[in-house]
Amino acid sequence: MADGSINIDDFCHRLPKVELHAHLNTSYSMKFLRELARHNGIAEEDFVQDLCLKEAKPLDEGFALFVRLHQIFKTEEAIYRLTCSVIKEFAEDNVKYLELRSTPKMIPETGMTRDLYMQTMVRAVKDCEKEGLDITVRLLVSIDRRHGVEVARIAVDLADKLMQSTQGLVLGVDFSGDPKVGDATDFIPVFLDAAKRGLKLSLHLAEIPLYEETKNVLQACCRSCTMRIGHGTFLHRYDLGKGHEEMEDIVLQWKIPIEACVTSNILSKTVDCPGTHHFHYWHSKQHPVILCTDGKGAFGCSLTDEYSKVAKEFGFGKRDLLAYALSTVDSIFEGDQVKQRLRETMRVFGQKESINGL
Ligand code: IMP
Ligand code: ZN
Repeated sequence: MADGSINIDDFCHRLPKVELHAHLNTSYSMKFLRELARHNGIAEEDFVQDLCLKEAKPLDEGFALFVRLHQIFKTEEAIYRLTCSVIKEFAEDNVKYLELRSTPKMIPETGMTRDLYMQTMVRAVKDCEKEGLDITVRLLVSIDRRHGVEVARIAVDLADKLMQSTQGLVLGVDFSGDPKVGDATDFIPVFLDAAKRGLKLSLHLAEIPLYEETKNVLQACCRSCTMRIGHGTFLHRYDLGKGHEEMEDIVLQWKIPIEACVTSNILSKTVDCPGTHHFHYWHSKQHPVILCTDGKGAFGCSLTDEYSKVAKEFGFGKRDLLAYALSTVDSIFEGDQVKQRLRETMRVFGQKESINGL
C-alpha cells in the first residue's frame, strides 16, 4: 500500500529495474539529439523540433514520426552513438538489465547494410561493457511487418547468425511495425522457425483490436515458443469483439508475459489514462506484466516515470514496488544465472532500504 512517508519518484528512480521493450530509434534523449546536431554542424532547434510526442495523437502520427527518425539515424556512426547513449541513459535510470531492439536497415546512400547495422549495435554494447557500466544489455532483431515475410526471414537468419557469433548477446526477435499493415498470421512460419533455432520472441500483438491475427499467432506459438507479448492492449477486451475469449485463456494458461507501455499507449490513444491501463487487469490476476518505455524519446518518459505513474495510480508502496520489480525478472529472455544476479541486486537494495523478507 502507499507509503506516504517516502518520495515515490525518488524511490522508483533508485529501484533496480529491468527494461524489456525499448526500440532503439525511439529511445533517444533530447540531450543526445542536441549533441548529434552539434556534431553534424546542424542548427539544434530545427533538428530537435517535433521529435517528441507531447500530446496524445493517433497511432498513425507516431508512425510518421518514426519515418522522420529513420532519416536521422542512418549512418554507422549515428547508430553506434545512439546505442551507446541509450544504454548509458538506461543505466543512469538504474535499469540493471535491458533488452534493446531495432530493425536492421539497408540504406544504400550511407553504405549501411542490415548486417552492419546489427554489428554496430553489438559493438556499442561490448564497448559499454568494457566501460564497466552497471547494466546487462541484450539485443533483439526487429521484424517490421510492413516489409513482408521475405524480409522477416532475412531478419531471423541474421538474428540466428548473431546469436551464435555473440554467444547469446543477441537472443531473440521482435515483431513490430504499423499494426494496420499486413496480417501477423502470415508470419507464423517465420516465428516458429525462429523459435526452433533457439531465438526468443517478443511480438507486438493486440495493440489495436485485431482479434483474428492475435488468436492465430497465440494458438500457433504458445506451445513451442518462448515468447512475450508487446502491448497486448486488446487481449482482454473481447467485449469489443465477442467470441475471442480464447486469447485471454491462452495467455493465462501459458503465462505469456505482457510488456506494458503506459505512456506510449496513452500518447498513441489506445488507452485513456493510467487508471484504465490493462497493466492493472493483468497484475491483479498475478499474471506477469512488465512496465516498459517503448520509446523513451518519442514518448518523453523514463522507466522511473512509468513505475511512478503506476505506483501513484494503484497505491503501491516501497515493498510493493520492490516485490513487483523482483517479479519482472522472471520474464527476461536471459537464463537463470543472470536472473539470480538480478534478484540478488534487488534483494541487496531491499536490505539497504530496510525492506526485508522478500
Ligand atoms: P527501430 O526498429 O529502432 O527503427 O525503432 C522504430 C521502429 O520500431 C518503428 O519503425 C516501428 O517499426 C517499431 N515500433 C516502435 N514503436 C512501435 C509501436 O508502438 N508499435 C509497433 N511498432 C513500433
Ligand atoms: Zn513497441
